[in-house]
Amino acid sequence: MRLFSIFGVAILSLSGLSTALTVQGDPDVNDPLVLEHLRDREKLITLEKTHRQDHIFRQSLSPTAQRADTIVRQIRQYETDYYWRVAGTPDDEYKERFAGEVFPLARPYIANTTLWKIVKRMPKGALLHAHLSAMLPYEKLVEIIIHTEGMMIASSQPVDTNDAKMNATITFSHSNSTTSEPQSPDIDSPDYVPDTKIPVTAAAANFQGGEEGFLEFIKLKTTVPPEESIRHELGVDEIWRRFQACFGPTGSMLEYEPVVRKFYQTLFSDLANDGINWVEIRSGGSSGKLVHDGQEDVDPNLDVWWTVLVEEIDKFKATEEGKNFWGVRIIWSDSRGKNRASLTKSMKIALQRKQNFPELFSGYDLVAQEDLGRPLSDLAPELVWFREQTEALNLTIPYFFHAGETLGDGNSTDDNLFDALLFNTRRIGHGFSLYKHPNLIKQTIEQNVLVEVCPISNEVLRLDTDILHHPLPAMIAHGIPTAISNDDPAILGQDVAGLSYDFFEAIQAFDNLGLAGLGALAQNSLRWANFEDQSDKEWIQDIDRGEEGTSTKAKNIQAWNSAWEDFCKWIVDEYASNYEVLAESSEN
Ligand SMILES: *[C@@H]1O[C@H](CO)[C@@H](O)[C@H](O)[C@H]1NC(C)=O
Ligand SMILES: *[C@@H]1O[C@H](CO)[C@@H](O)[C@H](O)[C@H]1NC(C)=O
Ligand SMILES: *[C@@H]1O[C@H](CO)[C@@H](O)[C@H](O)[C@H]1NC(C)=O
Ligand SMILES: *[C@@H]1O[C@H](CO)[C@@H](O)[C@H](O)[C@H]1NC(C)=O
Ligand SMILES: *[C@@H]1O[C@H](CO)[C@@H](O)[C@H](O)[C@H]1NC(C)=O
Ligand SMILES: [Zn+2]
Repeated sequence: MRLFSIFGVAILSLSGLSTALTVQGDPDVNDPLVLEHLRDREKLITLEKTHRQDHIFRQSLSPTAQRADTIVRQIRQYETDYYWRVAGTPDDEYKERFAGEVFPLARPYIANTTLWKIVKRMPKGALLHAHLSAMLPYEKLVEIIIHTEGMMIASSQPVDTNDAKMNATITFSHSNSTTSEPQSPDIDSPDYVPDTKIPVTAAAANFQGGEEGFLEFIKLKTTVPPEESIRHELGVDEIWRRFQACFGPTGSMLEYEPVVRKFYQTLFSDLANDGINWVEIRSGGSSGKLVHDGQEDVDPNLDVWWTVLVEEIDKFKATEEGKNFWGVRIIWSDSRGKNRASLTKSMKIALQRKQNFPELFSGYDLVAQEDLGRPLSDLAPELVWFREQTEALNLTIPYFFHAGETLGDGNSTDDNLFDALLFNTRRIGHGFSLYKHPNLIKQTIEQNVLVEVCPISNEVLRLDTDILHHPLPAMIAHGIPTAISNDDPAILGQDVAGLSYDFFEAIQAFDNLGLAGLGALAQNSLRWANFEDQSDKEWIQDIDRGEEGTSTKAKNIQAWNSAWEDFCKWIVDEYASNYEVLAESSEN
């Protein structure tokens, strides 16, 4: 064989001298076969894109919106090449920078980009997935607490060392008597008497490093620090332990009525300023304890917390800032760690609240770490029972389940997706593992279920290393309805209440998305918003009709469409001169 081939080569090269087997010409950009290839390729790419969930939205873009989309594409590309692409050096490898890098490292650089200015201003529609106590950055909440008379802080131990700061359990409360002599040295003194209440103003002023040092301390207790969140080698359970611990101090921060009221006004104002019109908040379950103005004890009446919320929503909507803020509804959420008896008890409380506040309560969900909590299949008896109760009481409380927030493939967390769809969930929270299930994908689309995607949350809670590894583009490409949410922005590092950072991550990461794709995601958030109680039939009908008609949903989408047009016009006015020139010169 070997001999033969050597022989063969010899013959070939001999005959090569006399026949036409020579290299001919040069590659030709106008070769008909090249042109045909390029045409076929274009066709394939176009065909592929017709399956995208945002296809219809893109088809309907106005000429202005198309121009804005092109301009933003240029801006994004320019910044990817000239702002983000920075090489590290041997003595400073952390100088390395690139578009789509891990959020905690990218965050300080984002606000300096033009893309950020655009995303910030974008009308974002609805925030559909966020947990109440993790929505407003704690610095703002502590500011409110410091400036509210009679607020006290207590610690389970002196917080004089870093270890002690980590270990201590801190609690806030309101006290009538702030005039009496302090009962103990300050909490960061080694002589602090554990569990003694100290006025927050004094604790902050006397803290090492003053009020700033105090805020740092609170931040340590309530946020996942950037250097921890990027340690992917430690895995999901480890980061969840840190994350869950952050909720500890927040319960008592949000108890005293004057604080709670200011919290809502600040929160709604921040959301409205980020271009958000509508919010559905996961809350209920354990929260909802209220101490009235000038009191010290929790009011046992379970309605007062919600009365305060309704009053604050109405108050904000009546302000100038709130004129485009359509409102807030609550998805009652219980911890999935509860046993049958305690969950049933909480469900009864939820049913009663729904009867008392039919407009406020929008649906039901189960929260906390999905991997370690009870799977939906185990919760089936409670969920079936709950459904029967709502029917008997003529209440509309649809399910909006967290499901598939996991790295699993075929274990019980991943399988929650099956249960969620069988239980007729109207949206899926996260659905991170959905892309592994072709049949479920089909069913999600057929049942008109939207996935609430929380890119930064997924990254910081270590499901993906960075936005570039996120399944969002796969979901959109498969035709799954999606919208962008922020989950727990006060804890997970966005450190603002709004959606801009999550929107930014998405548009920066994926060429296929662009401004038009981001617009589709924002419009989706309104198409799948639960503005009012509806039967399943009405719900689906309104989603199908979208902006057509005169329903509340249609009108809200129309209002967003008009804000979107204005926004696109602003982009063209502001950036066409710089970036359309750029587009032309880069094509030449
Ligand atoms: C932000 O942009 C300004 C002006 O272009 C520049 O001087 C500054 O260094 C930038 N900051 C960062 C963090 O890149
Ligand atoms: C903090 O907790 C750890 C683990 O329980 C313990 O080993 C350590 O002594 C504690 N330190 C302080 C100062 O409380
Ligand atoms: C606190 O003061 C209010 C009114 O000043 C009073 O109604 C309330 O009973 C007081 N609470 C306590 C625990 O002293
Ligand atoms: C059930 O509630 C709807 C409104 O949500 C109302 O129109 C209807 O009359 C109620 N039916 C009964 C039997 O109470
Ligand atoms: C499912 O698998 C993932 C990946 O191994 C794991 O993180 C998660 O804890 C698992 N869930 C359960 C319930 O075992
Ligand atoms: Zn969540």
